[in-house]
Amino acid sequence: MKKGNKESLRKWNSVMQSNYGTPSISLSKGKGIEVWDLDGVKYLDFLGGIATNLLGHNHPDIVAAVSKQIKQLSHVSNFYAHPVALELAEKLQKMTSDKSARVFFCNSGAEANEAAIKIARLHRGKRIVAATGAFHGRTMGALSLTGQSSKRDAFKPLLPGVKHVKYGDIKALRKSVNKRTAMVILEPIMGEAGVVTPPSGYLKAARQICDENGALLAIDAVQTGMGRCGSWFGYEDEGIKPDLITIAKGLGGGLPLAAMITLGKASDLFNAGSHGSTFGGNPVAAAAAIAVIDEIEEKNYLALNNVKGALIRNLISPIIGVEQVRGKGLLIGICVKESKAKQIAADMQSKGFLVNAASDEVIRIAPAYVVSEKQIMSFVSAFNASCEEIYRG
Ligand SMILES: Cc1ncc(COP(=O)(O)O)c(C=O)c1O
Repeated sequence: MKKGNKESLRKWNSVMQSNYGTPSISLSKGKGIEVWDLDGVKYLDFLGGIATNLLGHNHPDIVAAVSKQIKQLSHVSNFYAHPVALELAEKLQKMTSDKSARVFFCNSGAEANEAAIKIARLHRGKRIVAATGAFHGRTMGALSLTGQSSKRDAFKPLLPGVKHVKYGDIKALRKSVNKRTAMVILEPIMGEAGVVTPPSGYLKAARQICDENGALLAIDAVQTGMGRCGSWFGYEDEGIKPDLITIAKGLGGGLPLAAMITLGKASDLFNAGSHGSTFGGNPVAAAAAIAVIDEIEEKNYLALNNVKGALIRNLISPIIGVEQVRGKGLLIGICVKESKAKQIAADMQSKGFLVNAASDEVIRIAPAYVVSEKQIMSFVSAFNASCEEIYRG
């Protein structure tokens, strides 16, 4: 059988849908933040499966937890409880510091947001306010919340009642929320939009506006959550408590797992039959998530991610071509001049570093928490070389 990137790409074009475009390399193994492609070329993965492989690849604790669980019990229907999902739900409840928190497990960020839409419907109906530029997923409900016309337009009509307002603009939010609004949904930082960070006080104001109008506040922590931004869900700095939290991506440390968590009165809205998912809370994925959370706590990654993130931001900021470095913790957006993000991302790949051009202007990095200072220094040095070549020519 032929192997290698070239053969893999040929195969991709003959069997896969075109929705992702054709990738240039095929990854086959990883350890920590190192990954190898089918030609045996090694890369440092500074994207981490887009904020997903929190502990890197092939982490021994995840491998052990998953291996043990799959030998014991690999799947249970929702007719039965199992201790692993309950242990995980208990941990998630503790992370919210609120005993009223109740967990619904599913498999992806979009599914978690679909569940949030159902909660909003049960609370007060169809009217939802979301942010322009936001990304909440691509299923029809989640897509209705997503505020990017390039992703929405071909699939209209979407859900009625969803209004998009300028992100970070408290006045615009206040104007669009009223006594008929069921839910406001916001990302603490807009990841897919290019790591767009709102002004301090934005989520606090959103909480107040929702309280004044009896609307639910949902925080989509799919990308910012699980410690990436230095706190469990990315909203804690604002001193607020939302009514709903959605998480996915990093929760399973690379295995498909997501959750919609309700707090307070929002926890009373679902009853038997309201919603469901065959694989949600699967024991193997839940075992991985427990290993992830235990390791984050043991290694103190919440605090460390802030330190590592600050180091990256400080070292990248003065580099030629860099206009601004945004983000929090280990979710970082590097804004570059002259729309050269894609060129830089391609050049970084040729230098052995995986990053993502979230747009023509922004390079996004979201490395695993295990990234070392030495790996950060080699990333910065390559980024500097890339910008020197591209901007000084
Ligand atoms: C904030 C946010 N919400 C929802 C999603 C959708 O998650 P999924 O691709 O798992 O459906 C994403 C994915 O990037 C995201 O960043």
